[in-house]
Amino acid sequence: MSKKLYIKSFGCQMNVYDSDRMIDVMAPHGYAQTDEPEEADLIVLNTCHIREKAAEKVYSELGRLKPIKTARERSGERTLIAVAGCVAQAEGDEIKRRQPMVDLVFGPQTYHKLPGFVAQALADEEFHSSTEFPVEEKFEQLPAPSHGVGPSTFLTIQEGCDKFCTFCVVPYTRGAEFSRPANAVLDEAASFASRGVREITLLGQNVNAYRGEAALGQGGQWSLAQLVVALAEIEGLERIRYTTSHPRDMTDDLIETHASLTKLMPYLHLPVQSGSDRILKAMNRGHSAQDYVKVIERVRAARPDIALSSDFIVGFPGETDKDFEQTLALVREIGYAQSFSFKYSRRPGTPGADMPAQVPEAVKSERLAALQALLSEQQIAFNTSSIGQKMAVLLEKPGRHEGQIVGRSPYLQSVQVDTNEQDIGRIVDVRITEALNHSLRGKIAQETDMGIQGSRIQPCVS
Ligand code: 5AD
Ligand code: SF4
Repeated sequence: MSKKLYIKSFGCQMNVYDSDRMIDVMAPHGYAQTDEPEEADLIVLNTCHIREKAAEKVYSELGRLKPIKTARERSGERTLIAVAGCVAQAEGDEIKRRQPMVDLVFGPQTYHKLPGFVAQALADEEFHSSTEFPVEEKFEQLPAPSHGVGPSTFLTIQEGCDKFCTFCVVPYTRGAEFSRPANAVLDEAASFASRGVREITLLGQNVNAYRGEAALGQGGQWSLAQLVVALAEIEGLERIRYTTSHPRDMTDDLIETHASLTKLMPYLHLPVQSGSDRILKAMNRGHSAQDYVKVIERVRAARPDIALSSDFIVGFPGETDKDFEQTLALVREIGYAQSFSFKYSRRPGTPGADMPAQVPEAVKSERLAALQALLSEQQIAFNTSSIGQKMAVLLEKPGRHEGQIVGRSPYLQSVQVDTNEQDIGRIVDVRITEALNHSLRGKIAQETDMGIQGSRIQPCVS
């Protein structure tokens, strides 16, 4: 008998990847995905703990699900409710105390055991929780990815973080840094390519700190650059991206790869968080604003057209107007194509939560508005500069309107292209006709598949 699984992802792209893997892991047990919680036998909330707002979403979602579970029970059907992901890892059994109807709680490193958890919960009707950290085992035991595989697909290569920025929960929720062996990554990518995947985005909380067991029994470890070079050999795979990186791990070989490898897309998400050295120090980032600028200069020297993006936090404890001005100055100096910015959120258990001089909410809001106005101005300017350009766009899925397919430019801009569904999965040359704040519009300039050509200007080949 076929059962139904409703799964909702909160937070980052890695959670989206993990949710897809949970769908894969439940499929052989007769669970088919549904978009309707009302008909689900199993509901999974894959949660995010990065900021308070994200974490609280799980409780309001559980509040919404409660009557659904009760209604199904009345009609003699059982709905298991599971909380997965980083809130599960951080808050564990506390979730059950706040919302007793939860049947299962498990963290990001044990979801490969979901079929067993479900079977147990169905059999004994007890509450179960699992929050260990056996990352290695998880990747070895997961089935080959199937759900969520499209023209552009995520591939987790690294998890966890050893950096311990003082605002961040990741080292506690995802655990220590772990890199998957290169062979496992290459096999997964080759299998994706054989199924029509043209672009992969390598995921990791600290992806450029990747140090995975070398492929082909070569011994030793590979860096991210070595992995990317090997991935570029896979036939059919035309585009490679990676996210999220740390400035301290922007090594020479990785920067050099941006110069030498056309398949490595000209886009880099490199969070700086703040432009003030005092705040960067308090955040335990391990670099100064000037160190960051120097990294960017090296990256731009290697790949002059690279589009840059960053994360920013405003209102970290102790941040003064002068510190904040330095963040604005850094943004002006660098010039971003796109960025994410947040008000500092006090996370229990992180050093930042106990620091003196917490910044009032109103000040945070003011600073965020000012920063976002500047970042938005830069994004609009970047998108506007695309008008008239011819760009190679990977067409991914139906767009907003009939007769439009949405794809990505090499610079990760979303592009609405006037064409039809037959073109999904192709990389086509598109003439950009219009720039909106968050996306572009364009028309196919030429009917040939442009393959790997993804740059406005040809990178120098060393
Ligand atoms: N408060 C606000 N933003 C945070 N981030 C991480 N922790 C916090 C926090 N406590 C932001 C950082 C990080 C991004 C993923 O989320 O900018 O790079
Ligand atoms: Fe969090 Fe990133 Fe800092 Fe690690 S490097 S602690 S994931 S912000």
